[in-house]
Amino acid sequence: MVHPHPFPHRHLLGIEQLSPQEIGTILDRADECVSISRAARKKRDVLKGLTQINMFFESSTRTLASFELAGKRLGADVMNMAVKASSVNKGETLIDTAMTLNAMHPDILVVRHGESGAVNLLAQKVNCAVVNAGDGRREHPTQALLDALTIRRRKGRLHRLNIAICGDVLHSRVARSNIHLLNKMENRVRIIAPPTLCPDGIERLGCEVFDSMEAGLEGCDVVMMLRLQQERMTGGFIPSHREYFHRYGLDEDKLSVAKPDVIVMHPGPMNRGVEIDSELADDIDRSVIQEQVEMGVAVRMAVLSLLAEGLTGERAVA
Ligand code: NCD
Repeated sequence: MVHPHPFPHRHLLGIEQLSPQEIGTILDRADECVSISRAARKKRDVLKGLTQINMFFESSTRTLASFELAGKRLGADVMNMAVKASSVNKGETLIDTAMTLNAMHPDILVVRHGESGAVNLLAQKVNCAVVNAGDGRREHPTQALLDALTIRRRKGRLHRLNIAICGDVLHSRVARSNIHLLNKMENRVRIIAPPTLCPDGIERLGCEVFDSMEAGLEGCDVVMMLRLQQERMTGGFIPSHREYFHRYGLDEDKLSVAKPDVIVMHPGPMNRGVEIDSELADDIDRSVIQEQVEMGVAVRMAVLSLLAEGLTGERAVA
């Protein structure tokens, strides 16, 4: 009997479309990829002959580096394109660029774009596999997967945990992807945000909403901090950085109501002293921020290899 492929998707556009089993498949594969990354010789040839183009319409340091390393460790030919989105005619620029690249026969396109939905649109126009590396405020699936892998390895499970997502939820694709993933895996998700940075109706995604850190952090197993996304703000969302840190910045004092073995996460880049106390961010007993970066490469290797299997019909990582 032929077994169906455990990841029957052509693209990875968001967490919303994935089943809990498929999330488990990606994380299991990523665990294997952590071992590859920790070995002295990291090169595999499972993506050999495949071309991966990373097309970033928004700036990025760690996500781009992580996708590049992931592709190279698995033997793909990787090309990075930093594309400046034209402010006049973004839609047209996006599709034009995509069609140009499509004509060069890439196998996998990794795309980051400032507009929500842009990556889905692009996926309809090209012939290759598309991975969403962040679209506007909508989804950032590989970030949620790397967060899940970090939690699963630290806590030994990915269900029945109390997880608080705190800060600028309004502008955050990281928050949205994480809410979807953590709910699918049956955790209790809490959102802690000032009312100006909390999207209307967010509780409909299945989370409890708090506007005070003291109440929201009580008994938490995991605290995810978010960056204050000032480049997306037009107007006065917060009174001042000082005031914001006072009320919503994570420090030892606010964290004291969480579980004693609570872990602290941040997707980066961090604004130290604004959303998180600098010493706490570096406290290796609580902060798993560096581990998140390591898991990022592994999760992207896992996603690329699973999508490649769909393209070639061969199991990619042995
Ligand atoms: C996030 C992003 O770009 O959405 N960062 C990341 O992927 N490392 C979060 C952020 O920019 O705050």
